[in-house]
Amino acid sequence: MKITHYQKLRGEITVPGDKSISHRSIMLGSLAKGTTEVTGFLQGADCLSSISCFEKMGITIENNVKTGTVRIHGKGLHGLTKPSDILDVGNSGTTTRLMSGILAAQPFTATIDGDASIRKRPMGRIITPLSMMGARFESLAADQCAPFKITGGRLKGIAYTSPVASAQVKSAILLAGLYADGETSITEPFLSRNHTELMLKAFGTDVRSNGTTATVRPASELTAQQISVPGDISSAAYFIAAGLITPNSEITIKNVGINPTRDGILTVCKAMGANIQISNIKDGIGEPAGDITVSTSELHGCTIEGDIIPKLIDEIPIIAVMAAYAKGTTIIKDAQELKVKESNRIDVMVKNLSAMGADIEGTEDGMIIHGGRPLHGAVIDSKLDHRIAMSFTIAGGNSDGETEITGSECVNISYPAFYNDINLLMR
Ligand code: S3P
Repeated sequence: MKITHYQKLRGEITVPGDKSISHRSIMLGSLAKGTTEVTGFLQGADCLSSISCFEKMGITIENNVKTGTVRIHGKGLHGLTKPSDILDVGNSGTTTRLMSGILAAQPFTATIDGDASIRKRPMGRIITPLSMMGARFESLAADQCAPFKITGGRLKGIAYTSPVASAQVKSAILLAGLYADGETSITEPFLSRNHTELMLKAFGTDVRSNGTTATVRPASELTAQQISVPGDISSAAYFIAAGLITPNSEITIKNVGINPTRDGILTVCKAMGANIQISNIKDGIGEPAGDITVSTSELHGCTIEGDIIPKLIDEIPIIAVMAAYAKGTTIIKDAQELKVKESNRIDVMVKNLSAMGADIEGTEDGMIIHGGRPLHGAVIDSKLDHRIAMSFTIAGGNSDGETEITGSECVNISYPAFYNDINLLMR
C-alpha cells in the first residue's frame, strides 16, 4: 500500500467490533446451552480463526458477514467433540491461549498450530499453569511454542501468581477453572483487560475480582446470551491519533468500547494535551461504550509506565507515532511484552520510525522518543503485524513524500476495512 500526505481528516466513523470481546463470545457461546446471538462481531481474520476452531469441535456457528451477526448454537460445557484436524489459529494469540484453557479440560487430545508469527510466541506462560491444573502438553517445537498437543483431563483448582499481566493467561486459567474441582484464582502484577470476567458473569458463572486477583468457581452450566459488541478502542486508536496530528481535522468515532481496563489511550491523549471528548456513554453487560471526538491538537510528550501499560498495550505503536509528532520527549517503560506480540514491536517501531526521520531509541522495556522532527516517507516493512501497518499508515499520511507499507493486507487481522475508512475521512 502506498500512502501520500493527506490534507485533513473530517467526519464520523464506526470502527469494527472489539476483537477481545468477539473471541470470547465465540468461546463462551460454544460452551453455553442454547443459542448465543452476537451483534457487531468483528469479521477479522483472528476472530474467524476462533469460529473455525470451534466449528471443528462440533459447534454450529452461523455467521452473517453482511450484518455482522453471529449465532452460536452452544452445546454446553461438555459438548465439544474431538477435532479430526489440527486447530489452525492463524495469527491469533487470543484464540491459541484462551482455547488452550478450554482444551485443558476436554476428554480428548487436540493439536494447535498457526502461522509463522504464532510459532514464535511464548506459550510456556499458559503451559505452566494449565499443567499445574492437570492438563498434559506436548510441544512439537522448541521453547514451548506452537505447534503443540493438549490432552485434557480432570483439573484441580489452583491459586496462581502470574509473572506477566496478561489477559490471555488470566483467561486461559479462568476458563480451565470452570471445569476444576475447586476454586481457581489468578493474581497478576497489574490488572489486565477484564472482558473474560465480565462475560463469564453475564453467562451466569461465579467469578469474582479483587484488585489484581480473579477467582472462578466450577460451573455446572452457562446460559446463552445476547451480546452486543462495541467498537474496538484499539482500532479507534488510529483515528484518534490521526485526528490529533493531522492539521484541520475533526473526527468522531461512534460507539467505542471504553472499558476502564482498556482506556489507557484516552488517559495518555489527555496527558499529551489532546482535544478529546467522550459523549453518549452507554453501559452494555458491564462493557461501557461512548462516542470519541478528537480534533487537531498541539501534543506534548509524556511518560507512560506502570499499571497503565496493560490498559494500552496494543496502542503503543500508534502512541509512538503520536509521540514523534509531539513536542518534547515521550518515555515508554515497563512494556517488555511488546517484544512478544505479533512482531517485536520495540524493534519494529524503532527501525521504521527512524527510517522516517524520527528521533527514537529502543530500551529493554520500551522506547524513548524525542518528538517534533519532520518525518518523511519511507518503505516500511510491516512484518505482517496489523498494528504496525495501521500505525505507519497514519504516520505516512502526515509526512512528506510517499510511504510504502509492505504486507499491508495484514490489516485484515483486526480491521479489514481500514483503508476504506481512512478514505472516507479524506473527503
Ligand atoms: C488480548 C490480550 C492482550 C492483547 C491482545 C488481546 C485478549 O494480550 O495484547 O491483543 O484478548 O485477551 P496479552 O494477554 O498477551 O497481554
